Amino acid sequence: MYQSVLVTGASSGIGEATAVLLAHKGFRVFAAARRIEKLNELSGLGGGRITALAMDVTDDASVSKALTEIAAEGITLFGVVNNAGVSVMGPFEKISADEWRRQFETNVIGLANVTRAVLPQMREAGRGRIVNIGSLTGRIAAPFQAPYAASKHAVEGLSDALRRELAPHGVKVSVIRPGFINTPFGHQEQEALSKFTGDGEPYADQVRIFKEWHARGHPNAPPPTIVAEAALHALTVDRPYSRYTVPAKMLGFLALRNLMPSSVVDRIFERVTGLNEFRRRGK
Ligand SMILES: NC(=O)c1ccc[n+]([C@@H]2O[C@H](COP(=O)([O-])OP(=O)(O)OC[C@H]3O[C@@H](n4cnc5c(N)ncnc54)[C@H](OP(=O)(O)O)[C@@H]3O)[C@@H](O)[C@H]2O)c1
Repeated sequence: MYQSVLVTGASSGIGEATAVLLAHKGFRVFAAARRIEKLNELSGLGGGRITALAMDVTDDASVSKALTEIAAEGITLFGVVNNAGVSVMGPFEKISADEWRRQFETNVIGLANVTRAVLPQMREAGRGRIVNIGSLTGRIAAPFQAPYAASKHAVEGLSDALRRELAPHGVKVSVIRPGFINTPFGHQEQEALSKFTGDGEPYADQVRIFKEWHARGHPNAPPPTIVAEAALHALTVDRPYSRYTVPAKMLGFLALRNLMPSSVVDRIFERVTGLNEFRRRGK
């Protein structure tokens, strides 16, 4: 008898890699996202153990419809990988309230919608796994990434509360914090930054420098399968970690952030991104 798991944001990148790996490892996988046509491409993979589900995590009715479809098969979910996410990038003063809402609606409220919907069955079963895809940005915030960083800091906080709340019920909660991973996400972030590099844009020079650094990050980054491996670990070992940092070498950055004064970390950040040039030459 296979365990069943729901993976959100499975039409691309990390979610897709996770759905495929879990299915190969014997899980029955419900792969959810808005683009059902992309999900349907997965159905032949993983020994036929992947079922595509249309789901917009920001829409309660859509989440509950998808869960009704799972329940109709007589299945109790063992786990959920809350992976669906978007990134709103740009200078703080240029980001509208609607864009802030879009960021939080998907990465935070969407995650809460899905978790709230799956929890009753896990609590009643007295077992379950919730794996939240956070980000290194949930600990170290880059410039021009305020909404995204804030949303991923929120994922860290809500995951801590949830882990402590659910431990007595046998439901275990983990956060995975990827650094740069080579998926279409990076391309979308590049496009978002482009809006702020034109003539007359008040932060154009800074954003251009940051964008160049960012452009080097994603294509040279590890593949999404390394995040999928961490999710597999969180779903299968008896005592999953509360946090997974992938790749593990990024733990060094986290240690730096935790141990050094912010002023030092800020300078290192400027140097790494090249933004120290901007400061040196003045506005
Ligand atoms: N790539 C990185 O460098 C990186 C680093 C750290 C953390 N992460 C996190 O990893 C997760 C996955 O990112 P990725 O790199 O795999 O990006 P991606 O390739 O762009 O995939 C994002 C996924 O989220 C889904 N999605 C977005 N809005 C949704 C909604 N309202 N309802 C349901 N699904 C939705 C998309 O599917 P549809 O458009 O079909 O709905 C897509 O499948 C995100 O939470 C991201 O923040 C990524």
